[in-house]
Amino acid sequence: MFEVLKPIPQDPILAMMASYREDTHPQKIDLGIGVYKNDLGETPIMQAVQQAEARLLQSETTKSYTAPAGSPLFNLRSAQLVFGAEHPALNDGRVISAQTPGGCGALRMGAEFLRGCSSESRVWVSTPTWANHIPLLGGAGLDIVEYPYYDYANKAIQFDAMLQALESARQGDFILLHGCCHNPSGADLNREQWDAVADLLERKGLIPFVDMAYQGLGSGLDDDAYGVRMLAARMPEMLVATSCSKNFGLYRERTGTLFIVGETPEQTSNAGSQLFSKIRSHYSMPPSHGAAIVETILSDDELSTLWQDELSLMRHRIQGLRQSLVTKITASDIQGDFSFIEQQFGMFSFLGITPQQVEQLRTEHSIYMIDSSRMNVAGLNEQCMDYFVAALGEVLKT
Ligand code: LMR
Repeated sequence: MFEVLKPIPQDPILAMMASYREDTHPQKIDLGIGVYKNDLGETPIMQAVQQAEARLLQSETTKSYTAPAGSPLFNLRSAQLVFGAEHPALNDGRVISAQTPGGCGALRMGAEFLRGCSSESRVWVSTPTWANHIPLLGGAGLDIVEYPYYDYANKAIQFDAMLQALESARQGDFILLHGCCHNPSGADLNREQWDAVADLLERKGLIPFVDMAYQGLGSGLDDDAYGVRMLAARMPEMLVATSCSKNFGLYRERTGTLFIVGETPEQTSNAGSQLFSKIRSHYSMPPSHGAAIVETILSDDELSTLWQDELSLMRHRIQGLRQSLVTKITASDIQGDFSFIEQQFGMFSFLGITPQQVEQLRTEHSIYMIDSSRMNVAGLNEQCMDYFVAALGEVLKT
């Protein structure tokens, strides 16, 4: 039977990670997959995480099963982090949470839940969006529609076109929004724009599904959550998917959360029972270790402060790299305005070069980024910046 199967091309982001590992060039630079790197080009375990793990080694007493929703304490701490401890939706019992296997697990289970609510409703995603959004959401059976988001020519959000497209959404459609640090563009809605989106969603009866995988890496833990918190206060129903991969550096531990906000506590609880039943039939329950680390950190003042300090350092380092890159490009003989890189948020920006130039960077200089020219700014460091700018200058001349 398997002889009928054809190979499926590997996900481009993961494929790039593999080619980078095989490259032996001493000055190779990895600007591909969205993983934070320090000045030495390493992705170390955060100190708060190491300390929490040391405590867990002493205090853990069992590896017995948990539950489809995962750990109640993790879910509580995660909700407080995302919504803010005193958010009315939390106080009113309108939020149900499930610990998930990473942000991907949250997105997929959110999509499965939404598909169970309606077979008519479609999900709208930004153009462009994270490549894996399409299989994660579409794989649950949701029809995908796109709304314009990033204007490659102006290197900014095309907000009017976005609103205009969303005007044609049907009542009950789901709208996927990036909570902060838009992946792949780095171009985020400002507060006025978030408010205007909420006006439209409210007026048209649309349901937001916010993917917030980078809280704390844009402008700060609270600022980055503005959109989620405002929508949860205004909208009767919404979903939020979050990830601890980037802000806790727990990538391979697969730790995330899916939140469902309902109109009443009863409806929310019913929605939760639907979700947990879907989880049971997909993977039964989430892996435990990453969530145990996060709840240990967020339940302890000292570890929490250490984690927040480390996260601030990461954020400031990325902002510094953005500035430094723009300064170096401006000082070089490269033509064109790259100042947009400084105004964007989180790990990613489109460099704005062609796929051929991206390929040239890869084959001639061992510099790796996605074909769309999405680069992970956190993969740069002060040592490799001059090499990078010189290589960019060369490929732009050809
Ligand atoms: C990325 O966009 O590079 C990250 O979210 C990692 C991934 O799984 O694709």
